[in-house]
Amino acid sequence: KKRVLSGVQPTGTLHLGNYLGAIRNWVNLQDLYDTYFCVVDLHAVTLPHDPAELRAATRASAALYLAAGIDPARAAIFVQSHVPAHAELAWLLQCYTPIGWLRRMIQFKEKSQKQGAEEVGAGLLTYPVLMAADILLYQADLVPVGEDQKQHIELARDVAERMNGRFGGNKWKKLGGRGGRIFRIPEPFTPPAGARVMSLTDGTSKMSKSAEADGSRINLLDSRDAIVNKIKRAKTDAFLGLEFDNPERPEARNLLTIYSLVTGYSMESAVDEVGSLSWGAFKPVLADAVIAHLAPLQEQYAAVMADPGYLDKVLAAGADQASEAADRTLSNCREAMGFVPRR
Ligand code: TYM
Repeated sequence: KKRVLSGVQPTGTLHLGNYLGAIRNWVNLQDLYDTYFCVVDLHAVTLPHDPAELRAATRASAALYLAAGIDPARAAIFVQSHVPAHAELAWLLQCYTPIGWLRRMIQFKEKSQKQGAEEVGAGLLTYPVLMAADILLYQADLVPVGEDQKQHIELARDVAERMNGRFGGNKWKKLGGRGGRIFRIPEPFTPPAGARVMSLTDGTSKMSKSAEADGSRINLLDSRDAIVNKIKRAKTDAFLGLEFDNPERPEARNLLTIYSLVTGYSMESAVDEVGSLSWGAFKPVLADAVIAHLAPLQEQYAAVMADPGYLDKVLAAGADQASEAADRTLSNCREAMGFVPRR
């Protein structure tokens, strides 16, 4: 079976972009692939963080995976920091990742500018290497993510090829190892629609956990009223009706995309149905559709959170299963690089 790995950072609360761009698509992959879904808590400390919030967000994220329909009988659900191989492989890979590759990462450029380039922690720069380790440890074939993570997966591919070329194959055999490829080369997997859900307050920037204005995103756990109000205040334009293919109307495109994804209508039937509505008439229709789509998720979430012992058990079993796969890759990589095994 082919392998799938993905993860979400437990920073703040997860939003509709995380769900439509990533988590929702993980669910279908469980039947076809060996799946690993990780709450990437080590990634959540690359910017200043609050320990109590991290603790709560890590559990909440894992509970949302379950609520979304990730099934612990089929997928390994785990917390990144419970599997120390992630941090260790990240170190090994870091030493062979040119700094120039890292400085080119769009997310690094954006986030470091906000914080002051010389003041940010070094982890913000090396973060994509930790992400590469997450992926490569599981020999993942596919990494289901939103558009914004594609560049990081490209980097993971480059790092894997570099390590395979430098230490894999016959060089590894000559050391007495088994030879061959150390890491499988992963592919990104983005959904045809929803890979880039935009902000409610600006159709040209993506919906994000780190944007200051909470009104710019719909959080998966937002109340009915919050969803209604956020959509009511969402940015509009002066055109009549709604269209998704007019480049001058990013907000219309975004809200129609959300509408089609939460209702399950194709873009064409969504336009047939609501295209002639005014913004004022469309917004309550959209709010209702979003609320209806999130209701089962929110109910399931409440059920999972009501039984913390169950969540702990799932995460412990997930960490065991993940460690087994991860340790195999890590020990191969150590051997191929020439580290003396502990006897
Ligand atoms: P993160 O936590 O920012 O986002 C989690 C997932 O949600 C997707 N996403 C979006 N999709 C559509 N529209 C949006 N507005 C939107 N915002 C976020 C992201 O693309 C992602 O799939 N570095 C990663 C986490 C990570 C990871 C990994 C992912 C760490 N290691 C290994 C895959 C494999 C991140 O910060 O995602």
